[in-house]
Amino acid sequence: MPTSTNLTIPFLIVLANMIPLGALGALAPTPPLLPTPPMGFNNWARFMCDLNETLFTQTADAMSANGLLAAGYNWINLDDCWMTKTRAPNGSLQWNSTLFPHGIPWLGEYVKAQGFRFGIYEDAGNLTCGGYPGSLDHELQDAQTFASWGVEYLKLDGCNVFPAGTEGRITLQDEYKHLYGLWHDILTGLDQPLIFSESAPAYFAHNPSLSDWYTVMSWVPEYGDLARHSTDILVYAGNGSAWASVMENYEFNTRLARYQRPGYFNDPDFLIADHPGLSLDEKRSQFALWASFGAPLIISAYVPDLTTDELAYLLHRGLIEIDQDGMAQQATLARRDGSVDVLTRSLEGGDRVVTVLNRGDEVVRRKVSVEWLGLERDCVYEAVRVWDGTEVEVQEFVEVELAAHATEVYRLRLPEDCKDVIPTGMVFNTASGKCLTGSEHGRVSIESCKGEESQGWQVHASGQLRLLAQLDRCLSSDGKSLLLEPCRDASHQRWSYGMSGNLRNVKTGRCLTEGTGVDKCGVELDRQVFGLPSGVQVQDKE
Ligand code: GLA
Repeated sequence: MPTSTNLTIPFLIVLANMIPLGALGALAPTPPLLPTPPMGFNNWARFMCDLNETLFTQTADAMSANGLLAAGYNWINLDDCWMTKTRAPNGSLQWNSTLFPHGIPWLGEYVKAQGFRFGIYEDAGNLTCGGYPGSLDHELQDAQTFASWGVEYLKLDGCNVFPAGTEGRITLQDEYKHLYGLWHDILTGLDQPLIFSESAPAYFAHNPSLSDWYTVMSWVPEYGDLARHSTDILVYAGNGSAWASVMENYEFNTRLARYQRPGYFNDPDFLIADHPGLSLDEKRSQFALWASFGAPLIISAYVPDLTTDELAYLLHRGLIEIDQDGMAQQATLARRDGSVDVLTRSLEGGDRVVTVLNRGDEVVRRKVSVEWLGLERDCVYEAVRVWDGTEVEVQEFVEVELAAHATEVYRLRLPEDCKDVIPTGMVFNTASGKCLTGSEHGRVSIESCKGEESQGWQVHASGQLRLLAQLDRCLSSDGKSLLLEPCRDASHQRWSYGMSGNLRNVKTGRCLTEGTGVDKCGVELDRQVFGLPSGVQVQDKE
């Protein structure tokens, strides 16, 4: 994609000449508070309000003994219902001393002595979702209380938030932005800033239009370190299909890849490792998908009773390594058909991850060509089938056979002369889920995703989008419609992609639009927000 590099480099050189070298250090960006996604435990999906001190001490002891702590699961986080229904006379929050007889600071010390870190839950509104005192109008006091208790991570929920109706806080979104912004300022101003998990987007994910959801997502990465962006994963005692719940949160996460970066992570919610409604294949799929996303790995299960199989997958080194990769690139959908999804991402050092999910109820076989993975056809790739560690050679295509709801992950090493990756895959509307489709006759439309090469696009650094089915054909626009034309070096065949999710034609300045092809660019309109393959340069200001 066209970048601002030509503008930035001379500017930096001028700047460097003006500033004494020693002072340049002051310009170095501060390292993120959370360079890689958090891993740990939270009680909510497994126990909801049925929590107490023993649950947390037992869980920490079990995690120390069974290898989870050593594998990186180092957060012990309390969720809702830890407090009393009223504040103390001085206004401060109080823990429920029947449930936590030694107190929250003691519990924090207990887990930290084993090498864990310690997190807590509150709500930005006037009550938590469970009906306990929310932090509205007590923000600073509550933050200071948490800090004094040794809390290092705050999950800030957003139940019971209402627009103040003043100071520009007219819509619900304004209010969330105000409150989460306030918390951001308070938390980052503390001597030891807390990790800030924001639940604000979850309150917009189910609106008939996703516009407000996208808008909330646009400020969330500025204010915090991770965000619970959508539905709650099914709790242990919940009704309904646990697999459908995993798939729903997976689906929401696929729409948000462009926001993720080191220091900010999309959170599709807990790993429900002992959920009675999931088969082992389904649990392993959730884990493999979350790891491919580089998502938080927060277990909500009764850890002391995890089975050998459950522990084995949670401890899988190869997948944890992918999850914790320093590039924090989220795997994106490259190809989707009626039952199979293929996701791709790159890792630090250049390895390529290919994740294949069988959403369907039957065994499936697929051969996915290396072009779909953004790789070159004439190369031989050494690969590891991550789950079982088998080494395989990949030439021309990756071949998989998957049981119902199972997921396979491949990690490909790129040989020295085959290191180039062209971001490749589907371009899909993240509201309708439909795919940009080119036809032999030069027509371009937005259709259901079928995984055909007429729906695979190479996104070149020049800003060209070339169709996999006809690599000499480029997505073009004359300002009125979309066309597939023989590629040439012309600005009406170049597109830029922004944080807004808009795909904008460089020549006409108009945006890809479901329904009309192209149109004037709006602000995060359902018909104009698209998901592109990972690795595409995203312009901050668009
Ligand atoms: C909301 C959150 C959950 C949990 C509960 C607690 O539903 O999304 O993760 O924190 O509140 O009441």
